[in-house]
Amino acid sequence: MILVTGATGSIGRHLVRELLERDLPVRAFVRDAAKGRALGCEFAVGDLDDLSSLATALKGVDRVFLNTGGVVPVDGEQPMVRQQRTAIDLAREAGVSQVVKLSVWQPGPGGKLSVGAHWAIERHLKESGPPWTILQPNAFMQNFLTGQAAFTMNGDLHGAYGDGRMSYIDCADIAACAARLLADGGGIGETYALSGPEALDHHTVAARLSATIGRTVRYVDHAPEEFASILTAQGVPAWFAADAAALYADTAAGQLAATTSAVRDLTGRDPRTFDEFLMANRDRLRAATHLGR
Ligand SMILES: NC(=O)c1ccc[n+]([C@@H]2O[C@H](COP(=O)([O-])OP(=O)(O)OC[C@H]3O[C@@H](n4cnc5c(N)ncnc54)[C@H](OP(=O)(O)O)[C@@H]3O)[C@@H](O)[C@H]2O)c1
Repeated sequence: MILVTGATGSIGRHLVRELLERDLPVRAFVRDAAKGRALGCEFAVGDLDDLSSLATALKGVDRVFLNTGGVVPVDGEQPMVRQQRTAIDLAREAGVSQVVKLSVWQPGPGGKLSVGAHWAIERHLKESGPPWTILQPNAFMQNFLTGQAAFTMNGDLHGAYGDGRMSYIDCADIAACAARLLADGGGIGETYALSGPEALDHHTVAARLSATIGRTVRYVDHAPEEFASILTAQGVPAWFAADAAALYADTAAGQLAATTSAVRDLTGRDPRTFDEFLMANRDRLRAATHLGR
């Protein structure tokens, strides 16, 4: 049995489908039974903050996909770190033979937002978890659907990426890699850096978005500090704005521009291009209010 956490999320819903298509036994860990029913697989209702619900969901489970959203701290700590460390401990106690952990591109100690959080979780997994495999994806193409890709104002993309390029990846490709690893327990002790097939700057991203949704989307670039001030004025917490600006400066310096062969190596096919993602999601992008005027 494979337990999928974050099953209703951008990666999880693709992963559940991929595993079902392979006729593998899947149990989704969901907070909302209605969302669980919509997935079309066995599901366990619970919450990562409710240890007994997770322990129950882990009964009879061989492999776990570990993914949760959220970097916003509650009472000064990131819930993701505590939740995932606890999930790792429970998985070990349950005798799980593999945890495939969804991490982030280039995690590091003290990194901003999720970068440091995932590093701390990875360390816990390596030091005290069950056998592990780590996926370190670059930024998600799906961020353009959820509004996380760039903060938008007046229908344009705003950021502080400069000319820095990013090798955005489609969450369906991340899910395909996870499915391959969970299907046969491969990749134990391995870390895979996952990227899309090309690195794009945000002027190019805006031009391609424009062509897809049929109106002009401009990319408006700001200095990192200026951008942090704009975000703060919009109600984003000051600490988050400052951290986001620092991460954007890293992007501007080219730290998210590399491409890797990991998706092809794991799945046997090339990762989806940004244009393919845009075409597949054209209607949703046209309707997305964060890109609407
Ligand atoms: N966005 C990017 O570009 C990017 C790039 C690299 C790595 N990442 C990492 O990817 C991960 C996923 O981020 P995302 O924003 O795309 O989220 P997501 O996977 O689309 O959604 C979060 C999932 O976690 C579930 N969840 C949240 N809190 C939970 C809890 N307390 N108990 C049980 N389930 C819970 C949510 O369930 P509900 O349906 O109930 O809300 C949802 O299924 C994060 O760790 C992030 O750091 C993101």
